[in-house]
Amino acid sequence: MAQLLVTGGAGYIGSHLVLDLLLAGHDVVVVDDLSTGHHLALTRVAELAGRGCRFVHADIADVATVASALDGVDAVFHLAAFKLVTESMVAPERYFRNNVAGTAALLEAMVRAGVTRLVYSSSAAVYGPQPDAPISEDAQLNPESPYGVSKAQGETMLSWMCARRGWAATSLRYFNPVGTHHSGRIGQPQRDAAALAPRVLNALQHADQPLTVYGTDWPTPDGTCLRDYIHIADLNRAHLLALQVLLPGQHGIFNVGSGRPHSVREVLASCRRVTGREVPTTDGPRRDGDMARSTADASRFHAATGFIATGTLDDMLASAWTWAAHNPAGYAT
Ligand SMILES: NC(=O)c1ccc[n+]([C@@H]2O[C@H](COP(=O)([O-])OP(=O)(O)OC[C@H]3O[C@@H](n4cnc5c(N)ncnc54)[C@H](O)[C@@H]3O)[C@@H](O)[C@H]2O)c1
Repeated sequence: MAQLLVTGGAGYIGSHLVLDLLLAGHDVVVVDDLSTGHHLALTRVAELAGRGCRFVHADIADVATVASALDGVDAVFHLAAFKLVTESMVAPERYFRNNVAGTAALLEAMVRAGVTRLVYSSSAAVYGPQPDAPISEDAQLNPESPYGVSKAQGETMLSWMCARRGWAATSLRYFNPVGTHHSGRIGQPQRDAAALAPRVLNALQHADQPLTVYGTDWPTPDGTCLRDYIHIADLNRAHLLALQVLLPGQHGIFNVGSGRPHSVREVLASCRRVTGREVPTTDGPRRDGDMARSTADASRFHAATGFIATGTLDDMLASAWTWAAHNPAGYAT
């Protein structure tokens, strides 16, 4: 049992992680400024876990407050960030300040508090368009958005902290997390319209807002893009395993995906199976910067930890639908 600090613990992935850490017997401190997260998520986590975490309402840029929250903490999960690619294209400076400068401030607070172990939420967005799929961690990084750049810069800072200060860090490059806790009590608010799953569910609930399928002429079996989706429960397991591969002086970088490609049409078919309803769609042109196929070579994390993602697309969409159906206005209900 350890004392763990989760930045961004009131967000979609963070709230699920906090729940699993509490259920695993750890004590948890959450630092979150609630810029996109919800305190109600942590209230519900406490109900599900039978006990709560300590909540510190603060910006990670507030070095003094974060350093004090780190007192007695064994390791940090750093999830706090802005995450919308399209928004980062419009206001890159927000992403550099929050994701890059915010991460630098967190590192400073950790130095002050003497905490040297960190698991970092990175993203497949660091890769950008790649000639090959599946994508291995050794691929040349080619981020095409300020968001992807900000995540890559976070990784670079961690490499230096490990090299120069002997820290132990693990960066997990997530590929498209989907799904929620089976209770449907915590989840991903639909406003996160950039990801496919919330957009699909939104279209199911609002017949006047059909899902646009961006490109039906890609060189794939059904003409739509292929992506790698991972169940949030698998992602949580990956975080717990990441703690076990923290080695002083080393920065481990791992893809976390299922390794299985699914097309947009397969996602729609899965949604039809688990909800019994047809998702209204319209076909649109390809989007700039999109690629036909993006899947993880998940072999490095498997070799290091034995991790295999087991959640199926149907599992992911069924749980996401349970959440969406019970919380049509997200945490505003
Ligand atoms: N959801 C995805 O599809 C996805 C994919 C790849 C990587 N990631 C990464 O995973 C992490 C979590 O993503 P999410 O989907 O849970 O997003 P989210 O927006 O639901 O959660 C982010 C949380 O961080 C908090 N936060 C943001 N800036 C903060 C700051 N300066 N100080 C304190 N708290 C702050 C927000 O209030 C929120 O609770 C992010 O780092 C994101 O880049 C997410």
